Amino acid sequence: MNDTLLQLKDICYAYEDHIALRYINLEIRRGETIILEGANGSGKSTLLKLINGLVFANEGSYLFEGREISEESLKNNKFAKWFHQKIGFVFQNSDIQLFCSNVEEEIAFGPLQMGLDEEAVRQRVDDVIRLLDIDKLRDRAPYHLSGGEKKKVAIACILSMNPEILVLDEPLAGLDRPAQEWLISFLLKLKKAGKTMIIATHNEELAEHLADRHIFFNEEHEAEELQVFYHTHRHCHVLHPKSEEEEMLVEEGIEHHTHTEEELSGDL
Ligand SMILES: Nc1ncnc2c1ncn2[C@@H]1O[C@H](COP(=O)(O)OP(=O)(O)OP(=O)(O)O)[C@@H](O)[C@H]1O
Ligand SMILES: [Mg+2]
Repeated sequence: MNDTLLQLKDICYAYEDHIALRYINLEIRRGETIILEGANGSGKSTLLKLINGLVFANEGSYLFEGREISEESLKNNKFAKWFHQKIGFVFQNSDIQLFCSNVEEEIAFGPLQMGLDEEAVRQRVDDVIRLLDIDKLRDRAPYHLSGGEKKKVAIACILSMNPEILVLDEPLAGLDRPAQEWLISFLLKLKKAGKTMIIATHNEELAEHLADRHIFFNEEHEAEELQVFYHTHRHCHVLHPKSEEEEMLVEEGIEHHTHTEEELSGDL
């Protein structure tokens, strides 16, 4: 099986006349965690938006599981639905992402849009609520939650759709130290369970613990792959999850899921 999940070839993108991405080449395989690094304004968030089909390249091509992603191809509703179910995007600002009147509805929204029946939706909602330990937030209004609580709910919403790949933009921004440690530990569990992830971050600790590959954006908005070797070992007990927690992820169906050709042709 070809394990290339997505492929960007010579991607260029400009906001009107302001260049944000210059000839980006990147191939991501299933199960990899890619960390995007680089100065403010170098193009990380723009690339994440492009990967999620929110903006489209001016030049170059983007293939997801071998299929071209473009403004034209996403006009096909069935294809757009297939593509959007495969990618879960956690925005830096959770407020953009949360709009329902309570947390339970918020998490149920994606699975309902996917057309799952009531029982399956309830099951998914309960599973992610347990996984993220947010039962006490179930009936709360998302816009009344703290920044860290909102981030957990935003991640729960994405995981409830069991996407093939998780894309996170500055996931630690605005979180206090315990919440940062919790999130690094949680992402590490997802990585160990086989999820593919792309994460833009300025946080070295997150990069050190999660990265399989580092992609660095320079001020010319070009990307290059860095070989990074860590000489220090940071001691951080939360980064060593208990094995039963990892088992729970697998039980919850959050583990690496490979779609068969039958599933794909059924979806399309
Ligand atoms: N909506 C927009 N309209 C015009 N220019 C934009 C827009 N969004 C981003 N840019 C510009 O595109 C370039 C890349 O921005 P981007 O947000 O991708 O950077 P970034 O690497 O994510 O930065 P940061 O580390 O600050 O999050 C910057 O020069 C930015 O000013
Ligand atoms: Mg950014």
